[in-house]
Amino acid sequence: MNAPAQFRANSARDDSFSQFDVTPATPVLGAYVSELHLAEVTKAAAEELRAALWRYGVLFLRDQHLTPEQLTAAGYLFGPQLEEHTFGKTMADEGHPEVLVIEQMQSDRAKTTTDIWHHDVTARQNPNLVSVLQASEVPFGADTMWTSAAAAFEWLPDALKVLFLSLDVEHDTAYMALRHDFAPADKLADLVALGESAIHPAVIRHPFNDRLCLFVGNGYTKRIHGYSAEQGEHLIKLAIDQAKIPEIQVRFQWQPGDIAIWDNLGTLHYGVTGDLRNQKRLLHRVAAWSPDIRPSLDRQAAIDAVMTP
Ligand SMILES: [Fe+2]
Repeated sequence: MNAPAQFRANSARDDSFSQFDVTPATPVLGAYVSELHLAEVTKAAAEELRAALWRYGVLFLRDQHLTPEQLTAAGYLFGPQLEEHTFGKTMADEGHPEVLVIEQMQSDRAKTTTDIWHHDVTARQNPNLVSVLQASEVPFGADTMWTSAAAAFEWLPDALKVLFLSLDVEHDTAYMALRHDFAPADKLADLVALGESAIHPAVIRHPFNDRLCLFVGNGYTKRIHGYSAEQGEHLIKLAIDQAKIPEIQVRFQWQPGDIAIWDNLGTLHYGVTGDLRNQKRLLHRVAAWSPDIRPSLDRQAAIDAVMTP
């Protein structure tokens, strides 16, 4: 198993940022950003924030307490459009259809899709680029974890790198809802009618940092093109197992008002729910995307680079 190319030797502050403080959270993924409030981001700070995100994959900012308007404005720092979720609860009634409400009680009968390793909304042709998630109420232990999709690829043996570089994967929202018993029964027909599905390479070239990232999760992934369902399931499991490598993960323990900003193409995430008993889990999320950015791969060049010693 090879260590990722961008392995960091210690948690010393990253001096390449001048607008705020950046401290790596693990050798591979994640950084804490301090001395910055997201409601007051200058142009220079926004540029550095994006640079920090493409380098670290996920940024943690404590004590932000943003209003829905401020959360929305923070989302626009990372892309020209904000997602309006297909089936999730939103703040549309309060005038914020782009703010997704992630609310969960132990008594909820519906299974949620947070406790699986996944990228968000990959069944879209132009999936989210960046998510900005703020905690309102988080029970003790209901942490969120991220894993590096770039390290997940880099830690594969070369033969499997070439295999995954050659694959295309179909992602489908209705399939995801059925597979994980997620959507309420009365919404399933709507999801099927919506027909939200997309085909993406199993490995993508990240549009902002050029790293190759494994783009297969246990969310919307339906099947591998050209493979039987049985063969495809083996390959999908191989990919998901990469996300589970502890050395390429980071785990964040929320406090109310904290924010996590993540690169949705360069990371996968997992919401640890555990036993909430009678406690409530409540977070709010906006996500930026661009009609000009689709997951893509320079396939033959990437395969040649792996094959060339
Ligand atoms: Fe998610």
